[in-house]
Amino acid sequence: MSTALAAPPAPAVTPADERLSVHPLSGYYRWHAGIYDLTRWAFLFGRRSLVRSVSQHMMMPQRILEIGCGTGSNLVALADRFPKAQVIGLDLSRDMLDRARAKVRPYGSRVGLIHRAYDAPVAVGPRFDLIVCSYSLSMINPGYDDVLRTCRHDLSERGLIAVADFHTSPHAWFRRWMGINHVRMEGQVLATLDQHFTPLSRHLHQGYGGLWSYLNYIGSPRA
Ligand SMILES: C[S@@+](CC[C@H](N)C(=O)[O-])C[C@H]1O[C@@H](n2cnc3c(N)ncnc32)[C@H](O)[C@@H]1O
Repeated sequence: MSTALAAPPAPAVTPADERLSVHPLSGYYRWHAGIYDLTRWAFLFGRRSLVRSVSQHMMMPQRILEIGCGTGSNLVALADRFPKAQVIGLDLSRDMLDRARAKVRPYGSRVGLIHRAYDAPVAVGPRFDLIVCSYSLSMINPGYDDVLRTCRHDLSERGLIAVADFHTSPHAWFRRWMGINHVRMEGQVLATLDQHFTPLSRHLHQGYGGLWSYLNYIGSPRA
């Protein structure tokens, strides 16, 4: 006598997962995740120097969060630079996190990944000594201001924020092109950082002879 086997239960898809999967950036990165590391080194400048300059301002962060960690290159750089730190990367794109997962595997439980949008604090226990936003804030439109407010809740009392991002461009056609790629380059990130944080290091640099400018910023929450 044959017995019909019950189908295994389908993995639970929560309403939050569904919301993330239809987010415009999830759609964008569904395709771009595969070419991200091959292409972005050519224009996402200032990421390595940001990690280096963090170490001039803090000796040994214990807990580090990267918001919008993408394929995880900064997570690796942070884990290498701060070998005692617990490093967490958060991102709303499952495709980007799949790439990150492969990169951070050698670090075991010291580097963790969270699949969600950064729309509420992450810390349930001790807060973070360092929050890194690398080319994520310019893509969070609307909402970059709320993200920076939320960072203040997630940062410990002496915590620092470190940001590398696009600033602006003198060329309207370039700003429009970047807009098509979900990036807003109107100086809004730096202006909002200055409202919420006191800079310890605040530099603007030129990309490709002034086609655009980008920022490297380290700050502590304003009292
Ligand atoms: C340009 S990539 C930067 C990735 C990485 N930080 C780097 O420097 O290479 C921006 C990342 O931010 C993520 N992102 C954008 N808005 C987000 C949000 N509200 N919450 C979490 N992640 C977000 C995107 O999915 C994407 O992976």
